Amino acid sequence: MIFPFAKEREQFPILNEMTQLSSCSQSAISIPVKEAMNEYMDSWSREGMDWMGWMERVERAKASFASLINASPDEIAVLSSVSECTSSVASALTYSKGRHKICTTEIDFPCIGHVWLAQQERGGEVQFIPGEDHKVPLEYYEKYVDEQTVVTSIPHVSYYNGFKQDIKKIASIVHRKGSYCFVDAYQSAGSVQIDVKDMDIDFLAAGSQKYLLGIPGIAFLYVKKEVANELKPMVTGWFGRVNPFAFDIKLLDYADGARRFETGTPPMINAYAADAAIQTLLKVGVDHIETYLQKLSQTAIAHAKERGLIVASPENMEEKASNTAIFTGEASIYERKMKERGFIVSARNDVIRIAPHFYNTENEVIVAIDTLAELVRDGK
Ligand SMILES: Cc1ncc(COP(=O)(O)O)c(C=O)c1O
Repeated sequence: MIFPFAKEREQFPILNEMTQLSSCSQSAISIPVKEAMNEYMDSWSREGMDWMGWMERVERAKASFASLINASPDEIAVLSSVSECTSSVASALTYSKGRHKICTTEIDFPCIGHVWLAQQERGGEVQFIPGEDHKVPLEYYEKYVDEQTVVTSIPHVSYYNGFKQDIKKIASIVHRKGSYCFVDAYQSAGSVQIDVKDMDIDFLAAGSQKYLLGIPGIAFLYVKKEVANELKPMVTGWFGRVNPFAFDIKLLDYADGARRFETGTPPMINAYAADAAIQTLLKVGVDHIETYLQKLSQTAIAHAKERGLIVASPENMEEKASNTAIFTGEASIYERKMKERGFIVSARNDVIRIAPHFYNTENEVIVAIDTLAELVRDGK
């Protein structure tokens, strides 16, 4: 396979030192991200304080994320984590008699389940939609979501095995039943195309550290324009106000659009990093990235099987994103052993996740799998 991103790869010099295949957890650092973070440090060192300049960069990061998912910037709130985004949305919903059910899935990242379970104190009743072999069959949404469901909260892509759901079809089912559709896109944003309008998503959350090529500490929350102004989050702060700089302690007014979901001072240096990182993705094009990663996925699955490894990811490319999960048992031991050999991969319970981004070559995936196969054969 011809490697299409040789020039772009030069922006990630760490790849000359090691093979980083951990985008499901932390992507590789790039020169533009490092420079953007230095820009914040320089501004702080030079000017002492540049509140307006720093806030402008937060707005720029919002606009960049908005373009990535086909939203408008006023439909994006900046928060610190996906957990916080989900809590903010959960706190804005009411769980009344007749509409009190929260449907979420067993394949979600645990923090999503925790946030919804916390709503039980406020009258919410959580229904976990079961996973079958770490996948949720589409018909389960027909079965479990009903006319009492307030919100259906689903992952776009599973953190465990890269299983990818058909969001458009799920959103259509849950909307028919009168439920909101909340999507955790932390494992897809930056590597799988997302069009919130076409998919008809009400809420979508994604952090910056994984396929978005940034750092932890910042997350984006999309709230559909028509939905935002109906809601008043109880998780709030001065940045959720109409004018945060009015300093009126007795006035709880809610800003227009998604900004009402913001809380305190935004993570500024993180926004510098996130904006630079998303700009890289926009230049390369998520459509190209997705197509390329599907080819790497095919290679990863075929090669892992050839080497006698047991694959935990779906084999059908229609329902799989970048992450190829391989059963190893006690995966953290293999993560460490792989690191000692120069491969950064990510462990979750009993699987090692090989999660390339566009800057990885096919050969890197093959050699990483060869190395893992040797370690598994030798019994750690
Ligand atoms: C799909 C998914 N959602 C949420 C999280 C956790 O996000 P945060 O730490 O920003 O709350 C992770 C972390 O791995 C994840 O993979």
